[in-house]
Amino acid sequence: MSEGNAVLRMDAVTKVYGSGEAAVFALDKVDFEAYPGEVVVVMGPSGAGKTTFLTIAGALLRPTEGRVEIAGTEITSLKENRLPFVRRERVGFIFQNFNLLEALTGLENVRLVMMDPDSRGSVNRARELLEMFGLGHRLNSLPKNLSGGEKQRVGIARALANNPDLILADEPTANLDSKRGQEVMQLLRQIALELHRTVVIVSHDHRIREVAHRVLWLEDGRFRADVITERDPVCGRPVEVEGARTVEYEGSTYYFCADQCLKLFEATPRRFLEAVEE
Ligand SMILES: Nc1ncnc2c1ncn2[C@@H]1O[C@H](COP(=O)(O)OP(=O)(O)OP(=O)(O)O)[C@@H](O)[C@H]1O
Ligand SMILES: [Mg+2]
Repeated sequence: MSEGNAVLRMDAVTKVYGSGEAAVFALDKVDFEAYPGEVVVVMGPSGAGKTTFLTIAGALLRPTEGRVEIAGTEITSLKENRLPFVRRERVGFIFQNFNLLEALTGLENVRLVMMDPDSRGSVNRARELLEMFGLGHRLNSLPKNLSGGEKQRVGIARALANNPDLILADEPTANLDSKRGQEVMQLLRQIALELHRTVVIVSHDHRIREVAHRVLWLEDGRFRADVITERDPVCGRPVEVEGARTVEYEGSTYYFCADQCLKLFEATPRRFLEAVEE
């Protein structure tokens, strides 16, 4: 996954809220990179710094120290008045509570964030996105008449409206039942694989690990180095790198959850790598 340029890069990012004795180190020298086509899930307990991490990653909040780069643009040194453009063009946000405007229809909610919301092109693109997410029959519905899963799909369509490189999701399944949560997770995975976008999700919902290529643990504002995971190319499960069974193939290391997966991989590696790269 590390080939190509990182869409999101953070170097030694620290965020301190407040000062003096009341200072809270929400993030403490965090390094992070994410690449096109991958889903990275950041997990951690309440107060670990997940939302802080995500809002800094999306240029909604400035770090106290450190450097953040989105799609090759170093945003930490940009003037405040340039940040809205970076956010609009490069980043799509998906929220736990959907954040839809109640007075606007699904279609209008998606159009609203576009550069030129009234153009025919924008209307068509908003419609296409909603249709792609199975909401062709709900274009003109107000949020109050949509189910939670439908609202979140409008939220996902809106996040993609400006064709961003980076999709950031804060607890996207927290307000959904298990089936709707599953659907939303699969959509996020599809966006990474089929549209080749970078998807970063923060969550404490363990189910979300299923769609991750990598899972990182944040605790007290730091990534725990001891729990690094990679995806088993055969069964698709995240595997803790430490102590995992491994195979070297064409210069890369692959990690497996069990001997059975390792043996299947060794027999026909290309079959599984093509499935991963699809
Ligand atoms: N605006 C703020 N002012 C002061 N402290 C804050 C602020 N926002 C967050 N914090 C503190 O920073 C730490 C990290 O908060 P953050 O919201 O990033 O955690 P989180 O991992 O998203 O938690 P949760 O799972 O509950 O959403 C917490 O100790 C929190 O109390
Ligand atoms: Mg949070």
